[in-house]
Amino acid sequence: MTARVVLGVGAGIAAYKACELLRLLTESGHQVRVVPTPDALRFVGEVTWAALSGQPVTTDAWTGVAEVPHVRLGQSADLVVVAPATADLMARAAAGMAGDLLTATLLTARCPVLYAPAMHTEMWEHPATQANVALLRRRGAVVLPPATGRLTGRDSGAGRLPEPAAIFAAALSLLDRGPAAPDLAGRRVVVSAGGTREEIDPVRFIGNWSTGTQGYALARTAVARGAEVTVVAANVALPDPAGVKVTRVVSAREMRDAVLAAAGGADVVVMAAAVADYRPASRSPGKIKKDGRPPEPIALTENPDILAGLGSARNAQDRTPLQDPDAERGRLASSSSPRQVLVGFAAETDTSPAGARAKLARKGCDLLVVNPVGAGLGFGTPDNEAVVYGSDGTVTPIPRGPKEALADVVWDLVVTRLPQR
Ligand code: CTP
Repeated sequence: MTARVVLGVGAGIAAYKACELLRLLTESGHQVRVVPTPDALRFVGEVTWAALSGQPVTTDAWTGVAEVPHVRLGQSADLVVVAPATADLMARAAAGMAGDLLTATLLTARCPVLYAPAMHTEMWEHPATQANVALLRRRGAVVLPPATGRLTGRDSGAGRLPEPAAIFAAALSLLDRGPAAPDLAGRRVVVSAGGTREEIDPVRFIGNWSTGTQGYALARTAVARGAEVTVVAANVALPDPAGVKVTRVVSAREMRDAVLAAAGGADVVVMAAAVADYRPASRSPGKIKKDGRPPEPIALTENPDILAGLGSARNAQDRTPLQDPDAERGRLASSSSPRQVLVGFAAETDTSPAGARAKLARKGCDLLVVNPVGAGLGFGTPDNEAVVYGSDGTVTPIPRGPKEALADVVWDLVVTRLPQR
């Protein structure tokens, strides 16, 4: 397959190595448009890029205006590779700036984007750069770790451009993944994300470590596959995924209300949030003081189980139309429908199949994604692994990999369970 690749070149000495990357891309049959930043041309000139790519080279949006290049290049690309990605370039991309053709292209691209950073170790390790890299990754870009070794001068450390062959291999694997199939087009999807907080008093709460990374990856991948997505986010500090309606909540009961409100008419509900099972039976209106007395135990009361509620309402509708005078059950019934696909997540320290199957049955859902907690996996990490148990007896292991990849497998499993239209 011939792909349309944009090779973005930042203003770093490693720009000369991007010539080799360009050769690898063109010799494997891909059509490459090189888009250097204006300053990148100080390192390798326009003539070299044009000759090696066989394509015109421009750095600003003022050339060939009739073709609206600042929009068209990004829109029509199958892959954007940025090599070298300098600290400045990634900062501008993370901030959504679009002052030259490359940053405008990064803003309009909806295809996979791969950054190969190159800079001095101090610049790479600076919290500003690390925050920008983290932000780009959370938005779905792949940022390769820089290689360690000899830098421009006599110094060495982390910050070398990865070898062109390694960047090329990463580019090919992104191209292999291909554009997402629009197999959720026209489907309404609700995803819960993050972790609920239950107030003890105005300054304290019972919470958990969930950051919403997996839920947001599910939302992003569902949008890429054409779904209309609502995210119910409990205490998530991540930037809103593009094209998603986000409803913010704090507690389990707020999450229940928001999920039920969004779930009416939804084709799929994915409960990726960590929901507190219990809350303090009463919230102290004032800050609880030590006062030199022995500590009072906090009495707890149970929270509603959102997923189990949706599961039992849905499964009751499966058999007979639900006509229940009880307000809570009536609300659940109008939020579910017999063909709605329900997915639960379970972060466990004990991932035994028997425990997973029991939880799947208890929740009455179609799929339960069981992921281990610990050893660099789980809360707030970019990677995850899981085993997905289906109510139809299927077991699908998902090997360790980016949360986006896990999300795509979950959607693959959901798609096969959606009623045909
Ligand atoms: N869940 C929910 N409402 C709750 C608790 C959990 O909807 N009050 C959902 C979670 O969003 C998740 C699934 O149920 O999709 C499993 O959550 P988990 O905490 O693992 O299950 P629990 O029922 O709390 O079981 P336990 O704590 O005993 O493991």
